Amino acid sequence: MASMIYLLFFFSMIVEAQSVEFIFDGFNGNEKNLTINSASIIKSSGLLRLTNKTRYAVGQAFYSKPIQMLDTSSNSSPNASSFSTTFVFQIVSPKGRGGYGLAFTLAPSNQLPGAAAEHYLGLFNPSNDGKSSNHIFAVEFDTVNGFNDNADSEGNHVGININSMHSESSMAAAYSETDHPDRFRDFMLESGNPIQAWIEYDGVTKLVNVTIGPMGKGRPPRPLISYGVDLSTVVKDNMYAGFSSSTGEKLSSHYILGWSFSTEGAAPLLNYSLLPIAPIFEKTSSPFRPSVIAIIASLCGVFTVLFALLLLRAVYMKWPRFEDLEDWELDCPHRFRYQDLHTATKGFKNSEIIGVGGFGAVYRGRLPTNGSEVAVKKITPNSSQGLRGFTAEIESLGRLRHKNLVNLQGWCKRNNDLLLVYDFIPNGCLADLLFSRRNNFVLSWEQRFNIVKGIAAGLLYLHEEWEQVVIHRDVKSSNVLIDAEMNGRLGDFGLARLYDHGTTSHTTNIVGTIGYLAPELTRTGQASTSSDVYAFGILLLEVACGRKPVETSDFILTDFVIESHQMGRILGAADPKLNSAFVVKEMEVVLGLGLLCSHPNPKTRPTMREVIRYLNWEDKLPVIDDLGSCDSPCRSKRFMGAVSTEMITSSIDIGR
Ligand SMILES: *[C@@H]1O[C@H](CO)[C@@H](O)[C@H](O)[C@H]1NC(C)=O
Ligand SMILES: *[C@@H]1O[C@H](CO)[C@@H](O)[C@H](O)[C@H]1NC(C)=O
Ligand SMILES: *[C@@H]1O[C@H](CO)[C@@H](O)[C@H](O)[C@H]1NC(C)=O
Ligand SMILES: *[C@@H]1O[C@H](CO)[C@@H](O)[C@H](O)[C@H]1NC(C)=O
Ligand SMILES: *[C@@H]1O[C@H](CO)[C@@H](O)[C@H](O)[C@H]1NC(C)=O
Repeated sequence: MASMIYLLFFFSMIVEAQSVEFIFDGFNGNEKNLTINSASIIKSSGLLRLTNKTRYAVGQAFYSKPIQMLDTSSNSSPNASSFSTTFVFQIVSPKGRGGYGLAFTLAPSNQLPGAAAEHYLGLFNPSNDGKSSNHIFAVEFDTVNGFNDNADSEGNHVGININSMHSESSMAAAYSETDHPDRFRDFMLESGNPIQAWIEYDGVTKLVNVTIGPMGKGRPPRPLISYGVDLSTVVKDNMYAGFSSSTGEKLSSHYILGWSFSTEGAAPLLNYSLLPIAPIFEKTSSPFRPSVIAIIASLCGVFTVLFALLLLRAVYMKWPRFEDLEDWELDCPHRFRYQDLHTATKGFKNSEIIGVGGFGAVYRGRLPTNGSEVAVKKITPNSSQGLRGFTAEIESLGRLRHKNLVNLQGWCKRNNDLLLVYDFIPNGCLADLLFSRRNNFVLSWEQRFNIVKGIAAGLLYLHEEWEQVVIHRDVKSSNVLIDAEMNGRLGDFGLARLYDHGTTSHTTNIVGTIGYLAPELTRTGQASTSSDVYAFGILLLEVACGRKPVETSDFILTDFVIESHQMGRILGAADPKLNSAFVVKEMEVVLGLGLLCSHPNPKTRPTMREVIRYLNWEDKLPVIDDLGSCDSPCRSKRFMGAVSTEMITSSIDIGR
C-alpha cells in the first residue's frame, strides 16, 4: 500500500528565448504548473485523473504557462512553432464500453467554459463547434462512435480536429509493428492498459504526426496519422497545451500518467519506472485478501497449518494443470499453451465474455506472450470421441488466411474443452450494426456494399481458392464481423463441419440457421458450396433491406423482395434507414443477386466466382423476369416452412 501512496514526481524546465520544455513523470498534488478544471484531480498516487465514472463529467488540465506559438517579432506572416509532445494515458471503462475519450489540445485559454460533455470531449459545445474563432487544435482519442451520424463513425479512433469535433483526419486506433512497419495492429484505447502517444508538428513542412502504441514497447516505427495542416492559421500567439476529456451516458475514468512537451526538438523521454499506474479494477472485492487471511490465521492458531494447507490446495486447484499431450499433437504449429489462454482471459472470467454462439462462449483476451488481443472460443463438443478428428481438421483450418475471414490463429485442447483462438475484431457483428439502432448509427450504403464484396471474396477463397473446398455452412449476418476499417470478415468457418464430427458419425445433422437454410439441405442434409451461396443470398437481402430473414410469421424477407420486384419497384425494398442514400445501380445488383443466390433451385444459383464478377460489373446480372404466378399468401407459407421440404421445389422461378 505504502508504495502506492508515495509520490513519484519529477519536473524540469528549460527556459530559453521563447522555447518551452517540460516533463511530468507523474504529477504532484501541489502542482502549480498545472491548471486543473472541473472534474480533474491529481491523485495522491501521482495520477492526473481527467474524469472518473460520473455521468456527463468534463475535466481539463493545462500547463499553466502559455506557450508562444507565433513569433510575431520576425515577419508579417509567421509560421506556427514546431512542437513535440508525448504522454501516457489510461482509459478504464466498466465492463462493456465506456466513453467518451480524451484529447490533447492547444487552446487560446486554460479554461474552456461552457464546453460540453459526451462527444464534445469538453472542447466545444453545440453553438461554437466548427467556428474558426475557437483557435483550437486537438488530437482526439475517441472511444465512442457515431458523432454527427456519419462523421467519425468509428469508435476507438484517433483524429485530428481543428476548431471542430469533426475530425479532419482520423484512423482506427492501431500501431505499426516494429518488424513490419507497413503492418498496423489494431488495439483498443479503452483496454485499461497504459498507452503512449507522440504528437509532433513541424512548423516548416506543416505536418502533424500522431503515433500511438502500448506503453513500454518502444515507439512504433510509423505514425498512425501524418496529416498536412498549417497551424499558423489556427493558433493565436499564446496557446495553452493540455488535455480535455468527458463522459456522458457512457462512463470511463480517463487518466494521464506522464507528459512531456518541447518546442525545441523531440519531447523529453518519459521514465516509465517513475509513472504511476491506474487501477484497472477500481473496486477490489477479493474474498481472500492477505490481511483477512492473516487475521483468521492468528485467531485460529491451531488451525493455521490446516488452513494454509487448504488454501494451498484451493490455489493449486485453480491453477491450470499440465496438459496431456498426445503424440499427434506435439508438432502442431497452431497449438497454444492452455496457461497463456487462461491468463489472457483472466481465467475465463464471465466478465470477459463477448458473445455466446451456437458452439460455445467467446472470451476476449490479451495474450501474455505478445500482448495481442484475441477472441477465444471455448467449445465443449458433445462427444470426446471426435476430438482427435477435430484437432487434425482445426490444424488445417488454422492455415487459412484471408483478409475477409476471421483468421483462426490456433487452438488448444484441455480435457474435453477445445479452445479456438481467433483474431479479435473490434466492431462487433454485422447483424448488430444492421438491426440494433445503437446511437442511431446507420451503416452507410458505401460501407454495406464494401462489406458484401468482402464477404463474397472470403467465401470464394473458402470455396475455390484454398487447397481444399471449405464449406462454411453457417453464413449469416451475425457471423460477419466488422473490423476497424469497416471491412466484413466471415467468422466460424468450418466449425459446423467440425461439430458434425463430434456427434455420432453417420447421421446427417442439419447445421445452420433457420432463414438461411437452402431448401435442398433440409431434404438431403448435404451441405454444398451452393447451399453457402443460398445463405449468402439471404445475407445480401438483409444488407440491402436492413431486415432479418424471418421477422414474424407474416414477414419473410425473400417474399417481400420478390413482391417488390413483381410490382416493378424493387428499390422499394431498400432499407428505409438509408433515406435513399445509395447508388441505385449497386442497390439493384445487390437485391437482384440476393434473389438469384437464394433461388430454390441450386442449379440456378451462381458460383461465388460469378457473384464477384457481377458485383465488380465484369458480368451483367441476368435479367430476373419470371417469378412464377403463385399468389403471395401461399408463397409466404412456403418460405415459412423453409425447413420443411417439398413445398420449396415448386416455388418461385427466377428466369434468365
Ligand atoms: C513548476 O514546478 C517546479 C518544480 O516543482 C518549480 O520549481 C517551479 O517553480 C514551478 N513553476 C511554477 C510556475 O509554479
Ligand atoms: C467522482 O469524483 C467526484 C469528485 O471527485 C466524486 O464526488 C464522485 O463521487 C466520484 N464518482 C465516482 C463514481 O467515483
Ligand atoms: C512525420 O511522418 C513522416 C512519415 O513517416 C516523416 O517523413 C516525417 O519526418 C515525420 N515528421 C515529424 C515532424 O516527425
Ligand atoms: C515558414 O515556412 C516556409 C515553408 O512553408 C519556409 O519556407 C519558411 O522559411 C518558414 N519561415 C520561417 C521564419 O521559418
Ligand atoms: C528512471 O528512474 C529511476 C528511479 O528514479 C532511475 O533509477 C533511472 O535511472 C531512471 N531512468 C532513466 C532512463 O532516467
